[in-house]
Amino acid sequence: MKIVITGGAGFIGSALALELQEQHEVLIVDKMRSNVVFDNGNLESFGHFKNLLDFNGELYVGDINDEKTLAYIKSFKPDVIFHKAAISDTTVYDQNKVLSTNLNTFKDFIELALEIDAKLIYASSASVYGDAPSPQTVNLSEAPKNPYAFSKLMMDKLAKKYFDKMHIVGLRYFNVYGKGEFFKNTTASMILQFGHQILAGKNPRLFEGSDQIYRDFVYIKDVVSANLEALETKSGVYNVATGKARSFQDIVDILQKELNTNYPCEYIPNPYKNAYQFHTQAKLDANFLYTPQYSLEEGIKDYLNEIKRLYEKEVNV
Ligand SMILES: NC(=O)c1ccc[n+]([C@@H]2O[C@H](COP(=O)([O-])OP(=O)(O)OC[C@H]3O[C@@H](n4cnc5c(N)ncnc54)[C@H](O)[C@@H]3O)[C@@H](O)[C@H]2O)c1
Repeated sequence: MKIVITGGAGFIGSALALELQEQHEVLIVDKMRSNVVFDNGNLESFGHFKNLLDFNGELYVGDINDEKTLAYIKSFKPDVIFHKAAISDTTVYDQNKVLSTNLNTFKDFIELALEIDAKLIYASSASVYGDAPSPQTVNLSEAPKNPYAFSKLMMDKLAKKYFDKMHIVGLRYFNVYGKGEFFKNTTASMILQFGHQILAGKNPRLFEGSDQIYRDFVYIKDVVSANLEALETKSGVYNVATGKARSFQDIVDILQKELNTNYPCEYIPNPYKNAYQFHTQAKLDANFLYTPQYSLEEGIKDYLNEIKRLYEKEVNV
């Protein structure tokens, strides 16, 4: 098949590209990293060439807001578009910017996919649930708390209008961790960030009460499997998670066990306490035949060599 992956130089897109390139012709479309920052001081795009060192397909550098980029994608004639490019920073409050990039371009991608009869698999997000009680369920618990989360919910609502007209699948990722996330800087998972604190010989720093703050952490290899399953499944919006809630304290305890350390943890007040998610846990849909293979223990074990490699080659230099 001919496959386009937008945001393919980022974390999830690059993992998917590296998996698919063995059997398919892959075109990555990504804006790539520059020095441009949002009002909050964070980088506008995290796409990094180092995520693509083993990529053998084609790379087109372009903004998804640009008609030229869409024309290039059209000329490639993909059978499938995996649409991962987005403003994914939950602390960008410029609603115009977030919604025009995330929602309006999604409309363009729907029109394009319809026109060339391509399957469209796009990234939604567990952020659409806000602090709704667990288990968070598609069509039941949506309560977005920021423009990013709202943009993803609006994408899902738009997609719904096309379920019976095309193959369109939205994947609501929960907290993804694994190889390829390092260049997301401070937005990388706490698994990587705690791992590097421990490797630096520092005491892990957690928010007070971290044994009671739960997330549904999902490993990148399971996320890639979910994307492959999305090619076969019925059009719809599906949670991509493990269905299990684990605490931030669990992460540190597992890492210390694997790294043979026993540093005392430091507990700091949680500055986000009033607008914080304290418990996320997905309800998995039995109609989506994706079975997560990695528990938090197994995912961290699988990821550990990469965490160490990054520490040696990128952090401690
Ligand atoms: N990682 C997670 O835990 C998580 C959770 C929920 C949802 N998501 C969603 O999954 C998708 C991928 O996330 P990720 O973690 O790989 O993030 P990422 O930042 O690593 O990847 C996004 C990529 O999109 C590119 N990009 C951004 N704006 C662009 C634009 N206007 N034009 C072209 N390219 C652009 C960036 O350069 C980057 O390479 C995003 O849509 C994100 O909202 C991720």
